[in-house]
Amino acid sequence: MRIDVLSIFPSYFDGLALSLLGKAQDAGILDLRVRDLREWTSDRHRTVDDTPYGGGAGMVMKPEPWGLALDEVTEGSERPTVIFPSPAGELFTQATARELSAREHLVFGCGRYEGIDERVFEYAATLGDVRLISLGDYVLNGGEVATMAMIEAIGRLIPGVVGNPESLVEESHEDGLLEYPSYTKPSVWREREVPAVLLSGNHGAIASWRREQQIERTRRRRPDLLPPEAGDHPHS
Ligand code: ADE
Repeated sequence: MRIDVLSIFPSYFDGLALSLLGKAQDAGILDLRVRDLREWTSDRHRTVDDTPYGGGAGMVMKPEPWGLALDEVTEGSERPTVIFPSPAGELFTQATARELSAREHLVFGCGRYEGIDERVFEYAATLGDVRLISLGDYVLNGGEVATMAMIEAIGRLIPGVVGNPESLVEESHEDGLLEYPSYTKPSVWREREVPAVLLSGNHGAIASWRREQQIERTRRRRPDLLPPEAGDHPHS
């Protein structure tokens, strides 16, 4: 998979050279290209922002550098997916990560300030499939941290990136539930014992216990993930 990132802070992405995604790049599974948006400015100050038409607080990212950058990184690409992280976008979930992990070419456009001139999104839609995606219901200072999170979630689903693919199915959100608790040696630590069933060698009993733990955890921490229970809403 090829991923282009456009940002005025390219060094944010240095961390993606570490660990599994770094290895995937060395192995040629992931072709990650981070570019400074200011490369596509031509004035002395390498300006990427300007005041908003209609007034208001803050600055807006100018369309010209974005247009030139998008032209260059999408050139020769069949139908890239162009993602703009935004708190006003659709919610990013494990299903989104899985869907995007099957694409050949992703482009992430990281906005800063009060956002990007709206015409950039319209123009990008002439070059590829445009998605505005939010990491959650809170506001970050720009798209960089959201892009890092998405690249990690998407990248680890590309075949060959995670060494043991079985570890991908035994985790939170893969089956709609939170993951079960894990333990390792020692079996007693600071007076806390590992649940006896995990030491029993009874694989059927272990599987049932883990399933119950998943359901109980999800009910407690994320009831929104579970189907409404019969009798939950007697008045509707
Ligand atoms: N940019 C600023 N806030 C964001 C969020 N919550 N998700 C994605 N991109 C953002």
